[in-house]
Amino acid sequence: MSKVKVWDGFIRSFHWLLVLSIALLYFSAEEGMIELHFVAGFFTLALLVTRLIWGIIGSKTAKLTALIHSPQAVIASLKGNQAPLGHSAPGSYMVLLFFILLALQLTTGLMSSDGILTDGPLAQYVSSASIDTANWLHSLNFELLLYAIGLHVLAIVIYKLKGKPLVKAMITGSKQQTGTAPQALTTPPWLAWVIFFIVLVTVMATWGREPLSYLLS
Ligand code: HEM
Ligand code: HEM
Repeated sequence: MSKVKVWDGFIRSFHWLLVLSIALLYFSAEEGMIELHFVAGFFTLALLVTRLIWGIIGSKTAKLTALIHSPQAVIASLKGNQAPLGHSAPGSYMVLLFFILLALQLTTGLMSSDGILTDGPLAQYVSSASIDTANWLHSLNFELLLYAIGLHVLAIVIYKLKGKPLVKAMITGSKQQTGTAPQALTTPPWLAWVIFFIVLVTVMATWGREPLSYLLS
């Protein structure tokens, strides 16, 4: 058995920051803390945009192209005939589903309104019927996101029961592999943080000044 680095520092931080952000987004929406909701939403937007860019220029296991598998590969993986370095074939589709649900949640949020004082920054460009649709989709899609999260965690537990401790790898970045496997990571993770910083500052400077100054006052 040898230790192989599978997840770079950015992927791991992206994952756990995403979990924290979604918890904060849920909490802030429930408590009517709309400014906090907006700032957490902009942070999540920057996380997702960076992750998608990292899916083009990042490490081998982060690549979006590594998420596309044939139905045969999904079946082979479910039968236990595949031990990939990165996401398994069914896991890859789960990841793609997350990216789609998150993108929809973020875009509908940008067009939503709390119906009292605060509108998402794109609400001014759309009709009031579109705002209503965005609000409805934002709420419905969140439920789908919750089902996806439940399924995701269930799958992780099943893998664990089958002797595959995936969570440890998402924390430490490394997996135990039989034989000598090549190191998977090539692009330096600091580059992802530079991209994240640029995206976050741009989003906050464009849309985040008002909610941020309200939160800081
Ligand atoms: C808000 C809840 C969650 C969301 C939205 C979420 C989303 C994701 C996403 C998008 C990935 C792919 C990472 C990437 O390639 O960038 C992933 C992978 C992963 N997540 Fe989560 N996750 C959540 C909660 C959890 C929890 C609670 C656990 C631990 C029990 C967990 C364990 C993992 C593991 C181990 C992987 C890597 C799976 C593999 O080896 O293929 N996630 N998750
Ligand atoms: C992944 C990111 C996001 C998640 C998980 C999320 C989650 C939620 C949830 C659970 C609600 C409550 C829905 C309901 O009442 O049924 C909500 C409401 C709302 N969200 Fe988001 N949201 C996200 C991003 C955003 C963004 C980026 C914006 C705008 C900048 C936004 C603006 C709003 C607004 C205006 C409401 C309505 C609040 C109200 O009715 O009082 N959301 N969001």
